[in-house]
Amino acid sequence: MTTGGYGPTARLFHWITVLLVLGMVPAGVVMVQEGLDRTLQNQLFIFHKNVGVLVLVVVLARLAWRAVTPPPPPPPTMPDWQKTTSAWVHRVLYGLLIFMAVSGYLRVTLGGFPIEALDALGVPRPPRNDTLAAMAQRAHFLGKFALMGVIALHVLAALWHGVAKRDGVFSRMWPPLPRQ
Ligand code: HEM
Repeated sequence: MTTGGYGPTARLFHWITVLLVLGMVPAGVVMVQEGLDRTLQNQLFIFHKNVGVLVLVVVLARLAWRAVTPPPPPPPTMPDWQKTTSAWVHRVLYGLLIFMAVSGYLRVTLGGFPIEALDALGVPRPPRNDTLAAMAQRAHFLGKFALMGVIALHVLAALWHGVAKRDGVFSRMWPPLPRQ
């Protein structure tokens, strides 16, 4: 059975977000390891901070696009509890991505560290505040567990639809560009 899928722009936003987050989480986890080669660590930090800001831009653009181009309704065969759960998982995913990007941004700027791309563009930054920076660091550290948990739920649900149920839900977002 097939249902109307997401349009090309929504799919592009989705798969760009996947690629960015797939780079961000391992880079974040590796770069804080002790004893890491200094040059590699610096490169990972530069990648993580600047691509993290890009994640925020992409997520906000995606939400704006979603507001003007509402997603296709879930298939009518889907039970109500699944519709409600998936809507909430998507909201929480968006929320956690924004939470991670904002807490990372605050941890770095309030801690007095550079964000190379924003600094080069002359974007103003908040004044240094070590107490708030430490709170943002803790929030960023804990937020990753919630994000990874919700991503796991989202991927398992997508695979369940695609492999076990084969109800057309998986192909609403796959392949990254809709088939003609
Ligand atoms: C959605 C976007 C983001 C994700 C998914 C993400 C994910 C992560 C993860 C998984 C870690 C490892 C935490 C640990 O194990 O200790 C981390 C650390 C870190 N992230 Fe992010 N991050 C994001 C955005 C940002 C942004 C925008 C910045 C800064 C501009 C940033 C700055 C940092 C810093 C500085 C650390 C090291 C934490 C520390 O100081 O101990 N992150 N991030």
